[in-house]
Amino acid sequence: MFGIGIETSCDETSVAVIEDGLIMRSCAIYSQVADHARFGGVVPEIASRSHLEKINSVFAQAMDDSGVRMEDLSYCAVTTRPGLVGSLMIGGILAKSIHLAFGTPIVTCDHLEAHFYAAALDAGKPLVYPFLGLLLSGGNSAIFIVRGPGDLEQIADTADDAIGEAFDKTAATLGLSYPGGPAVESCASGYVEKSPSIFTPLLRNEQGLLFSFSGIKTAVTKAKREGHDFAKICHDFQETCFELVTRMLTRAVKQTGIDQVVASGGVIANTILRSRLESAAASGKFDLRYPAKKILCTDNGAMIGALGFFLFQKGKKDVVGFAVSDRRTQNP
Ligand code: KG4
Repeated sequence: MFGIGIETSCDETSVAVIEDGLIMRSCAIYSQVADHARFGGVVPEIASRSHLEKINSVFAQAMDDSGVRMEDLSYCAVTTRPGLVGSLMIGGILAKSIHLAFGTPIVTCDHLEAHFYAAALDAGKPLVYPFLGLLLSGGNSAIFIVRGPGDLEQIADTADDAIGEAFDKTAATLGLSYPGGPAVESCASGYVEKSPSIFTPLLRNEQGLLFSFSGIKTAVTKAKREGHDFAKICHDFQETCFELVTRMLTRAVKQTGIDQVVASGGVIANTILRSRLESAAASGKFDLRYPAKKILCTDNGAMIGALGFFLFQKGKKDVVGFAVSDRRTQNP
């Protein structure tokens, strides 16, 4: 069965064609990173205008690359939440148009849930439920219990900034490029010396599941003022953030008894984080999956098409008058 996935929730315009929920026939992505770089973050008005400009060509490219005809699409999956409302509406209009022209059933998708399906797609193997979903991106630091398609419960959140946001702000403080994640990772790789960390561990509560990344942001500014080497600041910053991530994840595994973990989101593209998570999985005895292809960690239409397949199989079909939302509500 073929389906299409449409993603326009933030700063990537992406459309993909998916076969049986696990095979990527095509995935076209236009990234707006360069359009937002000089502002150091995503500007909503620029984002929605850019989606409007690019959506038709991205859609055409995805269809051409796939070799699949419109008539052969069994469902049309689209991100409707959470995200920038003006941007979500552009993908929404494409889905409604496809439905009106070809009668393709619409499946609305939660963007955060969809991130986990990138791991299944990349490996060509379905996810095993229940699993703990670790989502680390520019807007989220969260852990979910995922019991099935459309059935998830958030058990960990951040008290303040998201981890990707902390990377972006650290890069801005140090005058590195945007987005900050790859820039901080690359700067940190230049650190060879092994002196004690500049930063103290990010301790919040001893038992709870709560991330917090605002303290380290202030500590980075102080470290820069004190004249520390930028490579050392980036190295210690990464290690401190990742230590908190692995500690929270190991705690979540212990508290829930769920030993399957699926990680995704832009920050999972970080090579050091991947190796810290692998070590935590080996010592905490849990099974870890994440998208091997870094492009599938960040926003893409393929993960929407993959989640859409499993929701459609469960019988989900949405009305053409569906709404979009900046929140994670199930059916806006
Ligand atoms: O999942 P994503 O594309 O979605 C949004 O939340 O928009 O994640 C983007 C975030 C940015 O904050 C970026 O700095 C971070 O992921 N990121 C990374 C790396 N690559 C991207 N963070 C750390 N290391 C990386 N290599």
